[in-house]
Amino acid sequence: MIGKVVVITGGASGIGRATALAFARRRARVVIADIDLAGARETVASKKDSGGEADCLQVDVTESADVRSMVTRAVDQYGGLDFAFNNAGLVGPLVGVVDTTEEDWNQVVATNLSGVWLCMKYEIPQMLKRGRGAIVNNGSVTGLVGSPVGVANVASKHGISGLTKSAALQYATQGIRECCGPWGGAHSHGCSTHSGPPCCRGCDVGGGPPSLLV
Ligand SMILES: NC(=O)c1ccc[n+]([C@@H]2O[C@H](COP(=O)([O-])OP(=O)(O)OC[C@H]3O[C@@H](n4cnc5c(N)ncnc54)[C@H](O)[C@@H]3O)[C@@H](O)[C@H]2O)c1
Repeated sequence: MIGKVVVITGGASGIGRATALAFARRRARVVIADIDLAGARETVASKKDSGGEADCLQVDVTESADVRSMVTRAVDQYGGLDFAFNNAGLVGPLVGVVDTTEEDWNQVVATNLSGVWLCMKYEIPQMLKRGRGAIVNNGSVTGLVGSPVGVANVASKHGISGLTKSAALQYATQGIRECCGPWGGAHSHGCSTHSGPPCCRGCDVGGGPPSLLV
């Protein structure tokens, strides 16, 4: 992991921050991208004695130009791209099909699903240049099963599963691996409205994204 270059979206808090710090402890070079620039800067500041390098920038994963800038930053700053953790996501309102507004649907799907696709669209060409790479898309248990509430989240996470499997098939012979993690119940901003257990002790416990990427 020493010197490997990784981009992490949603690295300003929660699972993304824990993952960024885990990579930094392994002396990787980490680009933290988040719509919340202040939070991303806090992540960079809190890794300070870990030995790794980190940089951050403000990125809205629903915006193609922002996602391109994230990948360009990694390449310009650290010389290429080895790993990506496409993690930025929203749960959205915990309501059913009829009560979900168009605005909420569009925001959740644009962030969770289109955002992950945009990230892969710009990350994969850089990995192909190196002939290798690994991508973890942050899925969810909601990408595996249905739920009567949070339907935009459920639909978008199912979409991530299909997108990831398709990319894995397409690039398996070109040195690039993709997978998505079926996390659930991590205690973070994203689940603060949930009734699930506060069981997350950071992604470094139990083989989170860093161990999926190697
Ligand atoms: N916490 C859990 O139990 C759990 C379970 C399953 C899946 N997940 C997934 O893990 C990921 C991270 O969730 P978390 O629990 O750490 O939540 P979190 O709210 O702590 O982190 C999400 C991060 O994404 C960022 N973000 C949101 N919209 C963005 C955008 N458009 N562009 C860039 N950044 C954006 C936020 O600013 C935040 O820093 C999400 O994809 C979530 O669906 C979490």
